[in-house]
Amino acid sequence: MSQASQRLTIFSGIQPSGMLTLGHIAGALRNWVALQYDYRCFFCIVDLHALTVRQVPANLRRWTLDCAAMYLAAGIDPAQATIFVQSHVPAHAELAWVLSTFTGFGEASRMTQFKEKSEQHAHNVNVGLFAYPILMAADILLYQTNLVPVGEDQKQHLELTRDLAQRFNNAYSPTFTIPEPYIPKYGARLMSLQDPRKKMSKSDPNHNATIFLADDNDAIRRKIQRAVTDSGTTIEYDPDNRPGISNLIEIYHLATGDPIEQIVEHYRTASYATFKAAVADALVAYLEPVRTRFFQIRDDEAFLADLLVRGAREAAQVANRTLQKVYRKVGLWSPKD
Ligand code: TRP
Repeated sequence: MSQASQRLTIFSGIQPSGMLTLGHIAGALRNWVALQYDYRCFFCIVDLHALTVRQVPANLRRWTLDCAAMYLAAGIDPAQATIFVQSHVPAHAELAWVLSTFTGFGEASRMTQFKEKSEQHAHNVNVGLFAYPILMAADILLYQTNLVPVGEDQKQHLELTRDLAQRFNNAYSPTFTIPEPYIPKYGARLMSLQDPRKKMSKSDPNHNATIFLADDNDAIRRKIQRAVTDSGTTIEYDPDNRPGISNLIEIYHLATGDPIEQIVEHYRTASYATFKAAVADALVAYLEPVRTRFFQIRDDEAFLADLLVRGAREAAQVANRTLQKVYRKVGLWSPKD
């Protein structure tokens, strides 16, 4: 345990706004699994963030447990890492409020994801969507996080987090660790199977675009077979010019662990149909055990509830310490003063 306290801290999270996808394994979960033995890890289910888009309440509840079960099915070990639900630790919303008073309106307006999402959800551009990155900063800073594994699309939010931490530390005294982005060893960003210039997303309205981690074997095969490719005839890895086929190569690589060059070498002159069949076989073999574990774990809601209650308790111990420091420094009076 004394050694545990010397480890660097990692924080990351996924919104429970849908069933997790193959993209989450490629871009997040397999890295988290690799990191959990060397770092003090907090893996959060960021349900408050999910509220920035209108959710069907029953779905949000279901997806929250799905998300926890999938973290475990993917290999996160609750003896190594803390798994918890954001709304169970009130310090997240509380610190976000304080940090919002340190964030410039113009600064928040420059977030490109806010601009994109306001276009996507033009009928519901709410203040929560605007404040989303501030809540994310609170998530990270509460745990004195050193490293944050995030994809390209979240880098600007991490920059804001660093700026806010620095600003607060300068205004008072050192309070927050300044977090760094963690560039993962396995950085694959999977693309939509229907429009390979877009990221694979759990909220894509076209279900054929996304491999969901609970998809059965038939659905996996069907989606791979229908994947949009280009009019070329060779199997080549060229994400800029041949995004569709490159995405399938990336999926084959994820499923088998074979190096990209070797896959290309082997299938270069194969037909698209032959290669797609091989990708589908590989993916079915890769996902079947994950899915089996997922359903086993997901069926035991009492176990999941216990896990998440314990996770929130562990997380709150760390988070509340930071929040109390912040409250004191900004001048909120407490009976302990
Ligand atoms: N915004 C992140 C995403 O959409 C999710 C997230 C919320 C997060 N809080 C976080 C990621 C803190 C890393 C750290 O991917």
